[in-house]
Amino acid sequence: MLANLISTPRKAKNAGIETINSNKTRYDAAPGLKELRMAAAKKLKIENGLDYDFENIVISSGAKHAITNALIALVDPGDEVIVPMPYWVSYPEMIKLTGGVPVFVDTAFENNFKLTADELKASITDKTKILFITNPSNPTGAVYTKDELMAIAEVCLENNIIILLTKSMSAFVSKILLQVLLHFQMLLRYHCHH
Ligand SMILES: Cc1ncc(COP(=O)(O)O)c(C=O)c1O
Repeated sequence: MLANLISTPRKAKNAGIETINSNKTRYDAAPGLKELRMAAAKKLKIENGLDYDFENIVISSGAKHAITNALIALVDPGDEVIVPMPYWVSYPEMIKLTGGVPVFVDTAFENNFKLTADELKASITDKTKILFITNPSNPTGAVYTKDELMAIAEVCLENNIIILLTKSMSAFVSKILLQVLLHFQMLLRYHCHH
């Protein structure tokens, strides 16, 4: 059942095959097809209540590509990037690749490994440029509440810190895959205790 859930949907597979067969295989706009960016803008409006013009949207090959592009655009050599632990495995190298310095912040088991505003405050220096937030968290599956996010956002506003938010797991929040993430979270807790 899980294999079916995480496989590429049949509609997407067929659309890919049809696109190749109709020779739409050449260079196109670097930020992605206009139609696709317009569809992404529509999704953000309908599902997230966010107003973005397609011109503010760039399509990428996965999350790491998008995040690395953002880091390349934002990081100057020596800038510090705050990464709450645990984090996605490749973040430190992606930050170092763009000249940044990863600053790892310990989070508490008792708080489901979610970063608090106080933990964030304690890790800020005059070199802090960016904060990574992943919500829901991958690998823990923890989901921040609105209040927790507001408190973090306030600290970032006060200190002129850019929030790099990854929501790659958000589509699964109300779906069965969240159960899988929570299962991983339970396993992680188990390993922390034993
Ligand atoms: C928080 C987070 N960061 C990075 C990635 C890596 O994404 P990709 O393989 O699309 O580059 C994932 C993938 O699930 C993720 O959940």
